[in-house]
Amino acid sequence: MPVSDDREHDRIDVASPFESKMIRTRLTERFGIRHPIVCAPMGLVTGGALAAAVSRAGGLGIVGGGYAGTLGGEPDLETELAQAKSGKFGVGFITWALERAPQMLTMALKHSPFCVFLSFGDPRPFAAEIREAGAVLICQVQLMSQIDVALQAGAAAVVVQGTEAGGHGANRSTFPFVPEAADYLKQRSPGTLLIAAGGVADGRGLAAALMLGADGVVVGTRLWASAEALTPKAHTDKAIGKSGDATIRTKVLDALRGAPWPREYSFRILKNKLTDKWSDREAEAFAAFGTLSEKYAQARGQNDLDMVAVICGEAVGLLRDRPTAESIVKSMATQAADLLRNGATLKFTSQV
Ligand SMILES: Cc1cc2nc3c(=O)[nH]c(=O)nc-3n(C[C@H](O)[C@H](O)[C@H](O)COP(=O)(O)O)c2cc1C
Repeated sequence: MPVSDDREHDRIDVASPFESKMIRTRLTERFGIRHPIVCAPMGLVTGGALAAAVSRAGGLGIVGGGYAGTLGGEPDLETELAQAKSGKFGVGFITWALERAPQMLTMALKHSPFCVFLSFGDPRPFAAEIREAGAVLICQVQLMSQIDVALQAGAAAVVVQGTEAGGHGANRSTFPFVPEAADYLKQRSPGTLLIAAGGVADGRGLAAALMLGADGVVVGTRLWASAEALTPKAHTDKAIGKSGDATIRTKVLDALRGAPWPREYSFRILKNKLTDKWSDREAEAFAAFGTLSEKYAQARGQNDLDMVAVICGEAVGLLRDRPTAESIVKSMATQAADLLRNGATLKFTSQV
């Protein structure tokens, strides 16, 4: 995708009342979407129906290709991609897992996705194939030091993921990470888009991310609890009403179930009996690598949530319901537009 000139003065434009509730950013303009909201490619969660619903609502839906079929128990990616195809859509993969099944990228590209979203590993070996297929590359990073690798791969957008995020990630926090990355990109590659991920679940989060220098947001946890998500009902029933305090970032679960995640990544999930028992026994869990793999697969089949991970981020504390993706995207965009136009100022002055 051609990268246009940076127009720093014009990064965010809350449109006039005649086009009310619209926020235009470099992301909406370059990607041709109405709202600067991207649905995270959540493995086993963002199927074709959710991706399509987000795109219909004016965001960008990205089907979760997850472990590229290497984990077992994942939905058939071709079927999900076929469902997403009614509008603009993308596909995402866990990069280290894609290295084990690169044919899954070739297969996905045959469906002509608008973008490919890669996270957790080196995207460079896949960049040429993605570019030649005419898709845009989006790279999610967890550390400043990974941004250069994303730029070398030719990423049109870099997603900086804060530790608040649900699922796998690392230790940086969204609030300082986004502006640090914004300053860095302004120097190094001003044409590259910056997207914030981690903890954004409503219009306040979207407005804040834009103020921090992002061109848009990636939303996981809020859309994990949407009507169209593949998330089992038992998982959202357990999570809704919980505080963000109820989540934990841990490596023990991947160790015990034998998922070969690189050591720098941990998993944010709801605390349960398994994490209560093991969370401060990391070395022991790695020594017992994979010993719970069979039991874990069984527990997954039985939805035994004392053992199986309910995967959500700190933003779980902002969930009250499981509405449609359309209502999530639209209310997030509307609330952010209101706040950016005047709400934040009014609230501040009224309290003085
Ligand atoms: C249930 C769930 C599954 C996820 N699976 C993936 C995945 O397969 N690949 C990926 O790149 N990111 C995955 N993520 C992380 C998202 O890409 C994103 O960074 C995160 O959801 C943003 O933070 P939030 O959950 O606070 O919105 C997942 C997140 C959740 C909540």
